[in-house]
Amino acid sequence: MTWPTVLLLVVVAAAGFLRWRRPAWYWMTFGVTLAAVRVLVRYASVMEACGLTVPPSRWRLMLARMTNRPAPESRAPRILRLRPTHTGLVLRLKLRPGQDAFDVAAASDRLRHSFGMYGVTSRELRSGVVEIRMTGYDVLKRVQMPAKTDTRPMRVPVALREDGSVHYRDYRTVPHGLTLGATESGKSVYQRNLVAGLAPHHVALVGIDCKQGVELFPLARRFSALADNPDTALELLEALVSHMQDVYQLIRAEQRISVAVPDAEIAADIWDLPEDLRPVPVVVLVDEVAELALFASKEEEKRRDRIITALVRLAQLGRAAGVYLEICGQRFGSELGKGITMLRAQLTGRTAHRVNDETSANMAFGDIAPDAVLAAIQIPAETRGIAIAGDSTGGWHRIRAPHTTLRQAVNLCNKHADRTPELPALAPFRPAVAPLPSARVPLSKTAPATA
Ligand SMILES: Nc1ncnc2c1ncn2[C@@H]1O[C@H](COP(=O)(O)OP(=O)(O)OP(=O)(O)O)[C@@H](O)[C@H]1O
Ligand SMILES: [Mg+2]
Repeated sequence: MTWPTVLLLVVVAAAGFLRWRRPAWYWMTFGVTLAAVRVLVRYASVMEACGLTVPPSRWRLMLARMTNRPAPESRAPRILRLRPTHTGLVLRLKLRPGQDAFDVAAASDRLRHSFGMYGVTSRELRSGVVEIRMTGYDVLKRVQMPAKTDTRPMRVPVALREDGSVHYRDYRTVPHGLTLGATESGKSVYQRNLVAGLAPHHVALVGIDCKQGVELFPLARRFSALADNPDTALELLEALVSHMQDVYQLIRAEQRISVAVPDAEIAADIWDLPEDLRPVPVVVLVDEVAELALFASKEEEKRRDRIITALVRLAQLGRAAGVYLEICGQRFGSELGKGITMLRAQLTGRTAHRVNDETSANMAFGDIAPDAVLAAIQIPAETRGIAIAGDSTGGWHRIRAPHTTLRQAVNLCNKHADRTPELPALAPFRPAVAPLPSARVPLSKTAPATA
């Protein structure tokens, strides 16, 4: 065997191994070039086979006839750009007259097989221009978030979408969110990712975790207030309602509408206030929400009604005061009693992990995207963390959050502990935590000197 043959064999073996064990590395090394060449070479024939070509226009036929040339062929959409990404390829197409974005969307599964890609989705960018996103491998199998994400205030990257793009939770466009899923489907891991994403931001985190605090109390250093039982949760929520009212008083005091004030400068929410006056936004994370709505006695029923009323008020009025709700639970339907559907209607952002029945999926998507209901039921039990997330346009995506362990989240929260704001209204609910080991004064310095 000559050395070029040996070298070739080594390269092929390395490519095969990477493709099997490390698909992301394979894509970055060999896959992207091979796929780009394959797409460009096969483009015209695949488009024709998938019915995405248009017959030649009249004037081209006439011109061919006049110049005695053979009749021109059908034409495929024009490629405006082919961009490689770290998970796949993005193809931007200019549609021919008579084609629409639906034609491309309907052919996406055929395109996937023809180009030999793992997944193909398409969306309309503007009239006549369609973007086809192709993924080279199953990006949700082992989620790796890109190192660089587009982070803005109150907008955190929380998961990866199946088309390889980043799924953001943007509190300013979608203020309140609901996350549903059967037990062990990945809700708490998703919520942990949210906390980890929000930790470096200027935001107060408030947690209600009726599972005795097992999920959120380890992250206590970054939380401005925490409750681990329904009684404390009620007091905390009522304190939040009074905080919200204080913020509205502040906004009113700052409005001072006069003829001289331009429209754009009239404050209607906290983001219109000058930065030095702006109250810190608050994200309220509620895990296992059903615990707040269940009762066994008359007393507990009264408490439940007050809790739901406070949550409804926060959901209805909180946005402008910078109070955002993030609610997690296994089910969130009318069987939890009065006020629940009213609260659900205010929770715009919907995420459903694996659910066991259609009714649970309907609680998340029944009223906004019926086809997402089917997708949520079809999530396999062994791929925990996969979820269907609705977006602000009424569409939905399959997403998966990275598997952030509790230790990683704790480390991140400890790192940003100094960013935890003190809210006077929530002071009684501030979790008592021991100082960080690095901040502790060495014992030798505090111990009284002994003679
Ligand atoms: N995104 C993910 N990637 C990989 N594994 C995950 C992911 N999310 C969850 N898991 C796995 O699923 C397990 C259960 O997740 P989690 O505790 O978030 O479920 P849950 O829906 O909150 O369950 P419960 O309703 O019982 O609290 C985790 O311990 C983890 O092993
Ligand atoms: Mg949980």
